Amino acid sequence: MISLRNVNFGYDDTLILKNITLDIPDGEVTAILGESGSGKTTLLRLLVGLASPTSGEIYINNRNLMTCSEEVQRQIHDKMSIVFQDGALFDSLTVWENVAFPLYERTGLSFSELRREAEKLLEMVNLREAADLTIDRCSGGMRMRVAIARAFAYYPEIIFYDEPTTALDPIARDRICDLIQKVQFERSVTSVLVTHQLSTAFRVSNRFIFLHKGEVIFEGDVDELMTSKNTYIQRFIKPPSRTYRVMKP
Ligand SMILES: Nc1ncnc2c1ncn2[C@@H]1O[C@H](COP(=O)(O)OP(=O)(O)OP(=O)(O)O)[C@@H](O)[C@H]1O
Ligand SMILES: [Mg+2]
Repeated sequence: MISLRNVNFGYDDTLILKNITLDIPDGEVTAILGESGSGKTTLLRLLVGLASPTSGEIYINNRNLMTCSEEVQRQIHDKMSIVFQDGALFDSLTVWENVAFPLYERTGLSFSELRREAEKLLEMVNLREAADLTIDRCSGGMRMRVAIARAFAYYPEIIFYDEPTTALDPIARDRICDLIQKVQFERSVTSVLVTHQLSTAFRVSNRFIFLHKGEVIFEGDVDELMTSKNTYIQRFIKPPSRTYRVMKP
């Protein structure tokens, strides 16, 4: 379980996250939604240890990250993996080399063992055939699948996805959603999906947290979301309507 209690975070004088209190249960996909600039990535950065709250508490499995030793913090963060929005891959390396990189850094595996492990992970994301392509030859959807395979090379207990489908067309988006569900089922990790796309959140999650201007304005399941009286939430979940009109010159 990940729990935040009254977490504040800011840059200089500007408060970006305000009094955040939320719970992320184990073994499920929790979706964190909110418009651009609402603080989603900033929240992820705090959770994975890339930044520290100005005040408040973060608990991971009942350990208080703010008060535990650096060694314990490192052990906790070692069990987390993050899939960045742009994949954060090495363009000049091949698909399999990217996936093997964390294993190369963390284990003493030989070249052939690294290759074998990377192929297993690529199998998981259905990209084994692409193992020898360099990243600059991969499509956006393929890159995201490589990034997911690489994230699993860390054997995470908690995985964070930052906007994994934002840059993708609807077909590629569906494939990534299917993949997130498949790996969730196979590896039973705790997943946190950050997105501003309701369609993505609806496909992979039944627990939703909404951020608005750095504050949590909603936490609940789909029924609670659809019946929310909050006008901002209602605007966010409104189905698209066709308002196109021919403009007179
Ligand atoms: N390094 C920084 N210094 C100052 N302000 C920052 C910094 N990083 C982010 N911010 C500000 O924090 C706010 C939240 O940014 P954040 O990246 O968390 O939003 P987001 O919800 O992830 O948006 P998006 O959907 O566009 O990715 C924004 O107003 C942004 O300008
Ligand atoms: Mg972001």
